[in-house]
Amino acid sequence: NARSDLAGMKVLVTAGATRERLDPVRYMTNDSSGKMGFAIVEAARARGAEVTTVYGNVTAQVPAGIRRIQIESAQELYDVMMREAPEQDIIIQAAAVCDYRFEKTAKSKIKKDEGEALTLTLTENPDVAKAVGAIKKKGQTLVGFAAETDNVKKNAVDKLKKKNLDMIVANDVTKPGAGFNVDTNIAALITKDGVEEEPLMTKRELADKILDKIVELRK
Ligand code: PMT
Repeated sequence: NARSDLAGMKVLVTAGATRERLDPVRYMTNDSSGKMGFAIVEAARARGAEVTTVYGNVTAQVPAGIRRIQIESAQELYDVMMREAPEQDIIIQAAAVCDYRFEKTAKSKIKKDEGEALTLTLTENPDVAKAVGAIKKKGQTLVGFAAETDNVKKNAVDKLKKKNLDMIVANDVTKPGAGFNVDTNIAALITKDGVEEEPLMTKRELADKILDKIVELRK
């Protein structure tokens, strides 16, 4: 890709899964590999952007030659984003953020109580994308993802509005070849003006489609 249509632009991409710790040896997380977010990082870099990635737990290779900030929990992601967001022109949030965390993180390994059920309480995490949307600056473009299993478009449009996004990329994670931990995706690019359905393609190809749409929105 020889385009340089993002030259001089500051682009921040979130990727991977947050981990919510229960005790020193256990945590709650999800299946995000970082592949989707890092495909966008690679595409944005190839188009001349100044890229920062904020990433959680990943199995994909972290791209080199760009600014990288690693986080563990949703709360850490929130703290980093509140600091970094105001400096960015474009923010694309592909990270899979745990909506809940354990109410308490134990300092030592929780011991098994033989024959007894264990009840753990979860508390809500901050909605990072919503918080970024609430401090959105003039000229910024905010893009989120929606990982859905049903009512894909309706849920995605609700998130677009609630999080003050310019675009949401909706993927039905139940479709083969889409969603978590595969090299391809099937997505709909949703803006206030309409829905563009994208067929099965590599995450790298989808990354360029997303960036094309962002460039168009910013005209
Ligand atoms: O990493 P891969 O294995 O390649 O998988 C890619 C992916 C399926 C993770 C990716 O394509 C994707 O859909 N990412 C978003 C996953 C997600 O958390 O979706 P959501 O519908 O729960 O969240 C909606 C948006 O709000 C997302 O932009 C998310 O980053 C953000 N969010 C969600 C919850 C929360 N507490 N804070 C947030 O900022």
